[in-house]
Amino acid sequence: MQVEYKLLEASHIRQLQTIVGEQYVFLDAESLEHYAHDETENLHFKPEVVVKPRTPEEVSAIFKMCNQHKIPVTPRGAGTGLSGGALAFRGGVVLSTERMNQILEIDQRNLQVTTEPGVITEVLMNEVKAVGLFYPPDPSSRGSCFIGGNIAENSGGPKAVKYGVVKDYVLNLEVVLPDGSIIWTGANVLKNATGYNLTQLMVGSEGTLGIVTKIVLRLIPLPKYDLLMLVPFRKLEEAGEAVSEIFRAGFVPSALELVEIDALQIVSKMVDSSVVPVTPDTAAHLIIEVDGNDTEVLMKEMEAIGSLLTRYDIGEIYFADDAQQKTELWKLRRRVAEAVKLKGYTIEEDTVVPRAELPSLIRGVKALGKKHAFEVVCYGHAGDGNLHVRIHKEGTPNSYGDEAMALILRELFELVHSLGGTISGEHGIGLIQKGFMPVVAQPAALELMRGIKRTFDPNLILNPGKIFDL
Ligand code: LAC
Ligand code: ZN
Repeated sequence: MQVEYKLLEASHIRQLQTIVGEQYVFLDAESLEHYAHDETENLHFKPEVVVKPRTPEEVSAIFKMCNQHKIPVTPRGAGTGLSGGALAFRGGVVLSTERMNQILEIDQRNLQVTTEPGVITEVLMNEVKAVGLFYPPDPSSRGSCFIGGNIAENSGGPKAVKYGVVKDYVLNLEVVLPDGSIIWTGANVLKNATGYNLTQLMVGSEGTLGIVTKIVLRLIPLPKYDLLMLVPFRKLEEAGEAVSEIFRAGFVPSALELVEIDALQIVSKMVDSSVVPVTPDTAAHLIIEVDGNDTEVLMKEMEAIGSLLTRYDIGEIYFADDAQQKTELWKLRRRVAEAVKLKGYTIEEDTVVPRAELPSLIRGVKALGKKHAFEVVCYGHAGDGNLHVRIHKEGTPNSYGDEAMALILRELFELVHSLGGTISGEHGIGLIQKGFMPVVAQPAALELMRGIKRTFDPNLILNPGKIFDL
């Protein structure tokens, strides 16, 4: 169904200016160009206008106007998304949460934080850390992404393997619905069996059902210590095999990341790191972190993991001894996506399989690369079975809209599905994956999702064209 949307008229712009103030309505070419991109491939969708409300009441007034006139609205956080969720696919209004950027309360009695959506995730993590508390979900972009975007995408990151993803920390949300109503989805409690779970329905809904204006998160005590090591493997598949073996042996690392050598070489050149050794006869590295409150226990755990891994063909293990070495190593890992994109690997996938199937996924990805003549690097959250597959194919800057690439990706996703996995672990479906939803979602399940969308947003104004077509 192709919905007819209205173009914005001068009177709509005037209304927006009245709602948020003239200085927060942007129509100039430079702003529109800036908000036409996020971090997804090389995609470009220009909005007609960008607005930056400050309060839920302002968001509500914007929604009411857009709903009445059938004007599309695309919510946007920091624009670091990797599935095109924040792109104004059908034009209209981009609603930026940049000005809703206050941490409202750190409740130390209950170990909770209430925040607005436009707070940078790392800022939030540091604020709660200052009082001995821990908010674990830490996407690679944590230094620039917004917590609101993390809610929209149900983001993960390296710590997810021990501590879970965003959904595991969200207790309650204030949401503005497309008709302008402002609701709370739940209560600030750790258990809640009160009707349908609207809170979790909002988490990962990619800005298609409402926009989150306040967020209540559960916090945990901050672990005092962590240890970090880098283990070079000469065979990529063995690195994949070792991952599930670590868990089967009874360990739960606080991070277990895999980075293929090409990716590590590219990123270490970009950030000019001399601290971390990148050995040439290596196929991939595992980055393994353990954390807790007793250093002796942690040392023993690291040693035991290290000796478990000696049965594989590994090189010399590098221990990040001090805070600087740890920071350097994490910096390398966190900047992989950005570095390989700059190198021309524009197409990033977010495949996830049951952990023990990782070697089969790696084998399949490499075979596909050979078959279809593309370069590919793999990296990601191996402990979660969540592998980012970055593709560079000459002359193909985007997967979106490219038929040949769509056939290749379909093959990849059919493999993922056959291994019991799915097509996105933490980046969302957005624009670029929506064509592949039928590979993993049954028709009846997709129809249910469409029904939910229509219930929340009968005029289909909110973030149109994302997750699935209606
Ligand atoms: C990462 C992002 C791309 O893992 O998810 O680096
Ligand atoms: Zn990731």
